Amino acid sequence: MTITLLPQEIENYANDYTTPETPILAALNRETNLKRGDAVMLSGHLQGGVLQMLSCMIQPKTILEIGTYTGYSAICLAQGLTEGGQLHTIEIDEELEDMAAKYITQAGLRDKITQHIGAAAELIPTLPESFDVVFIDADKSGYENYYDLVFDKIPVGGYIIADNVLYDGEVVLPEDKQSKNAKAIQRFNDKVKADSRVQHLLLPVRDGLMVVRKEKG
Ligand SMILES: C[S@@+](CC[C@H](N)C(=O)[O-])C[C@H]1O[C@@H](n2cnc3c(N)ncnc32)[C@H](O)[C@@H]1O
Repeated sequence: MTITLLPQEIENYANDYTTPETPILAALNRETNLKRGDAVMLSGHLQGGVLQMLSCMIQPKTILEIGTYTGYSAICLAQGLTEGGQLHTIEIDEELEDMAAKYITQAGLRDKITQHIGAAAELIPTLPESFDVVFIDADKSGYENYYDLVFDKIPVGGYIIADNVLYDGEVVLPEDKQSKNAKAIQRFNDKVKADSRVQHLLLPVRDGLMVVRKEKG
């Protein structure tokens, strides 16, 4: 199962006309679905393709991912890294570390991806690097804080990409009908919209991707 706000046949068509998943990503997708009840969290074929394409267009030297899960989006984003580039990915659930590590190694990315286990809010300030791209895909209540924590680590011209910004369509419901997470996402979207330092684009792909470009510090 995947989250999609598109009619299923349009989603299928888009998948059909998108470069197929590599065998390694397909195996990772399959194992995640077999072993985890929460596999809906995995980016999947179409969104993974968007992340990979954006990364290849940006050609970042450094990427920070907040929310590794089983490693699908990390493997997609790492495809665009320049020679010698590094992706750092943070995951709070240590039980996910080995599965992500297995596929990162199989994808030949062991020397390009560093896994960090712990709470993102505590780990981000300890990461010295600056990041050309930050992908926010962890607990929704943390998004606003993660945005503030990473903003000064991003150079002008760098990007923040945030997942689930449509929150299964709940963002268009009246506030009293929104879940706690949808309200947190709404606050995040409002924060980005009010930030005069950035250009932003909400892509209605899967569950919504907010692409933010830093224009000034
Ligand atoms: C939606 S999943 C990430 C999916 C992954 N990016 C992908 O596309 O395959 C969110 C992940 O964030 C992790 N997470 C939740 N709260 C966190 C926190 N405070 N710090 C770090 N990771 C957290 C969860 O354990 C979960 O694995």
